[in-house]
Amino acid sequence: MGFGNMKSVTRVISFTSGKGGTGKTTSVVNIATALTELGRSVMIFDADLGLANVDVMLGIRPQRTIHDVLEGRVRLEEVILNAPGGLRIIPAASGVSSLCALSARQRLSLTQQIEQVAEGVDYLLIDTQAGIGADVMYFNGAAAEVVCVMTPDPTSMTDAYALVKVLSQEYGERAVSVLMNNVPTADVQIRTAELTAYEKIGQQAFQRFGNAVARFLHVELDCLGCVPADRMVGESIRAQKPLLELFPSSPAARAVRRVACRIDQAFLDHRVKGGMQFFFQQLLEMNEHGYSGA
Ligand SMILES: Nc1ncnc2c1ncn2[C@@H]1O[C@H](COP(=O)(O)OP(=O)(O)OP(=O)(O)O)[C@@H](O)[C@H]1O
Ligand SMILES: [Mg+2]
Repeated sequence: MGFGNMKSVTRVISFTSGKGGTGKTTSVVNIATALTELGRSVMIFDADLGLANVDVMLGIRPQRTIHDVLEGRVRLEEVILNAPGGLRIIPAASGVSSLCALSARQRLSLTQQIEQVAEGVDYLLIDTQAGIGADVMYFNGAAAEVVCVMTPDPTSMTDAYALVKVLSQEYGERAVSVLMNNVPTADVQIRTAELTAYEKIGQQAFQRFGNAVARFLHVELDCLGCVPADRMVGESIRAQKPLLELFPSSPAARAVRRVACRIDQAFLDHRVKGGMQFFFQQLLEMNEHGYSGA
């Protein structure tokens, strides 16, 4: 068909936020599940060094982590967890205080191993810690695409603005996607066909955010979509199962599927600035330039 010789490109997308608890981990797990429903192969890299969450949400328990890989005890392949639906997880590096504190050799070895295990995978989704810390920026800088997960809550918007500002002014990021999560539904029945109440609220919040960004920052913003506040999200976390598996027709699950479709539609879009190779090139450059994480 003409694409026979084209090497498949792994799309590396990091999910980040200014404020904590906006729904990064939930979004990564649910979007990953939705992408597997679309027939894509997906790997999640749990880069939240503080609290390992991805495994907890999926009810799986890592025996070993990246820490063991760095200590040379096991290979990265051996720490990867298989979650229901064909998802694969690189569990959080518990025992490692900061990836920025790694030696150049450790970092090179880790990145090479990630490249190997993610080869041929359609998506590598990175779940980061909240805030503008050095590790977070390290992963955001390395990923080809950055998704800022925020809620219409004013503190979340203020912190998201600070994050986008640092991304653009200090790390040269030109484009950021926004996922408006946990949007109030205003007690209106949610229907699929029309622009629903939560979508209106979410779009308005995105507009306000976009106006502030357009005035003061040189970043292209794109709204990936809105996900309503839905108590089934909490239920699924308590059950340690993906929302899409447990409550496939809940409002949040339907919204997440739309977001995943939008992400996937851009697969061959030129907006995507690079895949896996880009990821590693960036990491190595940070190394060469003596990136200290400060
Ligand atoms: N769409 C939603 N509707 C209802 N509750 C939600 C929604 N999204 C997230 N939540 C709730 O918000 C809480 C935080 O979610 P999550 O852990 O995904 O956030 P986070 O951004 O990863 O947090 P952290 O910054 O601590 O890593 C969870 O308890 C979850 O139940
Ligand atoms: Mg999290």
